[in-house]
Amino acid sequence: MKKILVTGGAGFIGSHTVVSLHNAGYEAVIVDDFSNSERFILDRLEQITGKAFKCYEADCADEAAMEKVFKEEKSFAGVIHFAAYKSVPESVADPLKYYSKNIGSLCVVLKLMKQYKVDNLIFSSSCTVYGQPDQYPVTEETPQKPANSPYGNTKKICEDILRDFVAINDLKTIALRYFNPIGAHPSGLIGELPKGVPTNLIPFITQTAIGIRGQLTVFGDDYNTPDGTNVRDFIDVNDLAQAHVKSIEYLSSLQDVKLFDTLNVGTGNGVTVLQVVKAFEKVNDLKLNYKIGPRRSGDVEAIYATVDKAEQKLKWSCVVPLEDSLKHAWNWEKALAVKK
Ligand code: NAD
Ligand code: WQD
Repeated sequence: MKKILVTGGAGFIGSHTVVSLHNAGYEAVIVDDFSNSERFILDRLEQITGKAFKCYEADCADEAAMEKVFKEEKSFAGVIHFAAYKSVPESVADPLKYYSKNIGSLCVVLKLMKQYKVDNLIFSSSCTVYGQPDQYPVTEETPQKPANSPYGNTKKICEDILRDFVAINDLKTIALRYFNPIGAHPSGLIGELPKGVPTNLIPFITQTAIGIRGQLTVFGDDYNTPDGTNVRDFIDVNDLAQAHVKSIEYLSSLQDVKLFDTLNVGTGNGVTVLQVVKAFEKVNDLKLNYKIGPRRSGDVEAIYATVDKAEQKLKWSCVVPLEDSLKHAWNWEKALAVKK
């Protein structure tokens, strides 16, 4: 069984990817420091798959701790590096935390992959590398505007590090540029677990619907978009997880010894914030308490992906409709309420 190291495997996207890897016949080994996830997710993964996953509690920026993992596990067919802090406002308030941890973690992973001769790496990048593009949908070649936050800048820098590293080392790596991941596992056993007040749209919506938050504020309806609210490309987390499995398969199938590539991973559809709110109400048969508020500083007006490159290279495409993602996100929120 091919073993894949999944850093950040207890997190939102990582946990769904562990399930997808398992379903595709891979053995996932998790490293997580639980800085933004909960240990009960490991039990949930076992409930979903029937398998207890090996998990090392370690900080990926801690080289000695990570070396233990590589030494003990002996060999990996690949690494999927999710582990990173991801809060945009926190990165503005504490940029050094983001620059040191998120970039430091990637450097440690690369160093150990070289030392232990592991040659396939998938890196979690983001549509944030495009900033506010002049035109959309964006392709991988769309000129990048300045990042809107230190967090976004770490993703750009990490892509540069990968490019520079591959120039002088035998490594095959893909930076997957995720658009807006949403939804949850259909079982309702794993999903997004924001700490504190959510900044992302879908957890704010579900927490409002369940009564944890009083009201959702839609940040601005005076943009140059069909209904004045921002346009995003919301991709289901299970589809996104599957893109990682396909990426590992793709890298393993290549004869080349080195590769650095970037792939957009979205649906290819732009949807407005108000369309999401209305779809959430309809599909879950409820009324959401929301108001229109001022714009949020740093928000890009509109962005969505061209996904032809990922579809062709990975032989992958999205299958989960937005409505199902919104249903699953709501089921997950309700299940969390019962747990508490
Ligand atoms: P998440 O916070 O749910 O998961 C990240 C996991 O990594 C958490 O379990 C956290 O505890 C762990 N972690 C963080 N820093 C670590 C470290 N130094 N060492 C070990 N573990 C560490 O986030 P997510 O939404 O699953 O995001 C996964 C990756 O995808 C991140 O790199 C993120 O930047 C990127 N990304 C996320 C989004 C999004 O909107 N969710 C969009 C684009 C890119
Ligand atoms: C989506 C839309 C908000 C909350 C962020 C990061 C990006 C990437 C994905 C990691 C926007 C609107 C939101 C609310 C609202 N992450 N909104 N009321 O900003 O597109 O991207 O997550 O790489 O880097 O910046 O996602 O979910 O925060 O917002 O109206 O309470 O929902 O204005 O238009 P965003 P989001």
